[in-house]
Amino acid sequence: MTRPPRGVGAAGRVVPPGSALGVIGGGQLGRMFALTARRMGYRVHTFSPEEDSPTGQVADVEVTASYEDLDALKTFAGGVDVVTFEYENVPIEAVDALEALAPVRPSGVALHTAQQRAREKTFLADRGVPIAPFAGAATLDELWEGVARVGTPAVIKTAAFGYDGKGQHIAATPADVEQIWTAIGHQEAVVEKYVSLQAEVSVVAARGLDGGIAAYAPFENRHRHNILDVATAPAAVTPAVAAQAAEITRTVLDELQYVGVLCVEFFVSTEGELLVNELVPRPHNSGHLTFDAAVTSQFEQQVRAVCGLPLGSPEIPRPAAMANLLGELWEDGEPNWAAACRFADVKLHLYGKTEPAPGRKMGHLTAVGRTAQDALERVIAARDALLI
Ligand SMILES: Nc1ncnc2c1ncn2[C@@H]1O[C@H](COP(=O)(O)OP(=O)(O)O)[C@@H](O)[C@H]1O
Ligand SMILES: [Mg+2]
Repeated sequence: MTRPPRGVGAAGRVVPPGSALGVIGGGQLGRMFALTARRMGYRVHTFSPEEDSPTGQVADVEVTASYEDLDALKTFAGGVDVVTFEYENVPIEAVDALEALAPVRPSGVALHTAQQRAREKTFLADRGVPIAPFAGAATLDELWEGVARVGTPAVIKTAAFGYDGKGQHIAATPADVEQIWTAIGHQEAVVEKYVSLQAEVSVVAARGLDGGIAAYAPFENRHRHNILDVATAPAAVTPAVAAQAAEITRTVLDELQYVGVLCVEFFVSTEGELLVNELVPRPHNSGHLTFDAAVTSQFEQQVRAVCGLPLGSPEIPRPAAMANLLGELWEDGEPNWAAACRFADVKLHLYGKTEPAPGRKMGHLTAVGRTAQDALERVIAARDALLI
């Protein structure tokens, strides 16, 4: 009997260490992906419109060009063994250009589904996944109808390219609709019922080339001004809710034939109902804590998945927490790093441009603890100390 060549399994050829991984986007998630990939022996090429990007600073190759520059994208794809994303809101033409020259994981189909809220919600509803009542609206009349249908208060979101709550407005009464239509610049929108929230949780999961799935237990997320502020693991939800969230995540991954890391954001309503809020086709900020606290981080899972390697253990042996550090921390000058580092077991993650580039710095703190609450108190105390 002849042995198959080494490294060729049922799912195809493994992209082995030493290969070049292309990451689209230059932000913090790409930076953590690059740090991990390089630890594992890979080369990392990054493509973004920014120079000296957080990812570019730690990559082997930084390409600076527009996501509309199809020639630059093709050259980039030609120089790597597989392409993945840390930023998903790239034009679909960009993904098509990449797919012509290299394996792209997750696929353009998965990205396309998650890029536009109406498409994403239709995809979920068609598969029986519970979501808040919604309506798509491309005109002011449709927006009126949508608000009438889902009822007030309603959340109106621009359909495409939203993140960190940008392009989101609450219609407390139907009388608010016209002004919101103006505020969003007459763009296509979705109307969603405003959900009275008990909690928000996320499931970050990886699906490999062979269809294997590894999911972290749900994280619990708290937002401030619609931006993730803190995350804790594990979430304080019942085992039944955690199991349902994992099951929904599995359905989404399988239906999309997904390869890579995906996050499903959920609402837990005050009635205890689990609803999907949105899909994020990349590692997620709530998963930052996996970098220090999990057996296998979400970034390592992304490397493993897109390279056709077996997935690692998603176990998080001790409760953990993450606190975001946003640009406002730098408003009155450099934060007090020494004071935060006095919390000896709190890990600091920072990324941003070197001086002078105000407003372009971000980071987060992580810690493990006896309980999630204990870990949370630690990262919050360290974050407070930054302003002492
Ligand atoms: N329908 C809703 N009901 C209640 N809160 C909402 C609703 N939609 C969004 N939010 C709040 O705003 C946050 C950001 O909304 P999301 O749709 O996830 O946008 P983004 O793409 O900016 O992350 C959510 O995590 C939640 O806190
Ligand atoms: Mg969100």
